[in-house]
Amino acid sequence: MNRAHLTIDPYFTVGTVNRRLFGSFVEHLGRGVYDGIYEPGHPAADENGYREDVIALVRELGVTAIRYPGGNFVSGYRWEDGIGPREQRPRRLDLAWHSIETNEVGLDEFAAWLRKVGSELMYAVNLGTRGIHEALDVLEYANVPSGTRLSDLRIANGTPAPHDIRMWCLGNEMDGPWQLGHGAAEEYASLAAKTARAMRQVDPGLELVVCGSSSAQMSTFGSWERTVLEATYDEVDYISCHAYYEPKDGDHASFLASAVNMDRFIESVAATADHVKAERRSPKTMYISFDEWNVWYQSRYRAERHTGIGDWPIAPRLLENTYSVMDAVVFGNLLISLLRHADRVTSASLAQLVNVIAPIMTEPGGPAWRQTTFFPFALTSRLARGEALEVKLDSPTYASGLHGDVTVVDAVATHDAGSGATAVFLVNRDEEAEAEIEIDVRMLGEVRVRDVWTLSDKDPHAVNTLEQPDRVRPAANPTAALADGTVTVSLPPVSWTALTLG
Ligand code: AHR
Repeated sequence: MNRAHLTIDPYFTVGTVNRRLFGSFVEHLGRGVYDGIYEPGHPAADENGYREDVIALVRELGVTAIRYPGGNFVSGYRWEDGIGPREQRPRRLDLAWHSIETNEVGLDEFAAWLRKVGSELMYAVNLGTRGIHEALDVLEYANVPSGTRLSDLRIANGTPAPHDIRMWCLGNEMDGPWQLGHGAAEEYASLAAKTARAMRQVDPGLELVVCGSSSAQMSTFGSWERTVLEATYDEVDYISCHAYYEPKDGDHASFLASAVNMDRFIESVAATADHVKAERRSPKTMYISFDEWNVWYQSRYRAERHTGIGDWPIAPRLLENTYSVMDAVVFGNLLISLLRHADRVTSASLAQLVNVIAPIMTEPGGPAWRQTTFFPFALTSRLARGEALEVKLDSPTYASGLHGDVTVVDAVATHDAGSGATAVFLVNRDEEAEAEIEIDVRMLGEVRVRDVWTLSDKDPHAVNTLEQPDRVRPAANPTAALADGTVTVSLPPVSWTALTLG
């Protein structure tokens, strides 16, 4: 048994939890859109072809903002292919995912779907194969109320009110050699700065995200951020981070500590941004949009890709990872890392939402169900309110091959002064031993333990599937007890827990 100790003090705050931290990402990739959110003819489809069962799950997940339409896809995308009468929309080759894009769903349809879901739209423009002009066009179409060619075209296409998109990504992963239009940092930085200035001439209040590195493992990581920010610091509000994790060579101990890597990644990007801030004597703080994060078995995708996926299919089954309990624990820990950096990370997008490395899976003509990762996301989105707190954690450590010595237990807390509610999120990374944690809550005053949910299983590799969609669910943890200002709770091996006090 490992023993850990946590102290919570509502006066020690990191920053306000921005609701945009609970964003997600829908790309035209595989069955993310087609046969995912959109399936005309499905028994649960509404009159526009959107699956109502999927909408209900997305709402339950608590997704606040959705990045669209890519991803790698966006770097070859022509947004105007996806507007107007469906029967006139062209079919195109999607080079990023070696598929046919039918363009049945485009900006107006996706925005309409988001209105049903109750999420904000975060839109990525194509700076891979296109540029300033295209960005201005899509901005005019989306946001100008009326009276211009493109705003009037939107109205003629059946959307009278502007979409009023506030957050715009200036391309996607432009540091990656796989990206259509990838070039040197200086080349992208110059285009991003010019595009940002042009977009602000339309609306100075837009929130703009410039591309950081596609992962902290890129050889250009650090220098890419510096070059890009030196050119764009005054023009943009966020720099993006992307990170995906999977076990390497069966090293689960390192995999379980993936959040340590995310912590370091965020802190390195913040340090680089602050270096540029100092150079420029700027009063402005650059925020981080962590707009792609997840567990992703990328090595399986590479293998799949090399054996070939046939020629140019429509909505093929791509990146359909099935997530285990262990994956969900790592995933929940990544959310802990994001909350711990709430002062800097003010927007994040879980990549992705439906079918593609997703918390929600669907079968054509069949059911939709929750993957294991659904639960930490839904509970964190529901419970993490108010301020993220700087907690004091004492935990035993273990040696992880990839991240050095790491704590067995990880934790973060949030406190909402308005409602008096406090939420504590915990993981036990040990594969064998239970951990008992004592949480000193005296500084919260008179409180009682409300709910304690734990996600764990005797088999850490247990999954939810079409055949067994409810095999894994979080359960009430009966071990929590409060005495003398201390909550004691047992955390099973490889587990994620959410505890609320109030
Ligand atoms: O989310 C899948 C892919 O991962 C995205 O298209 C790309 O941006 C990243 O490399």
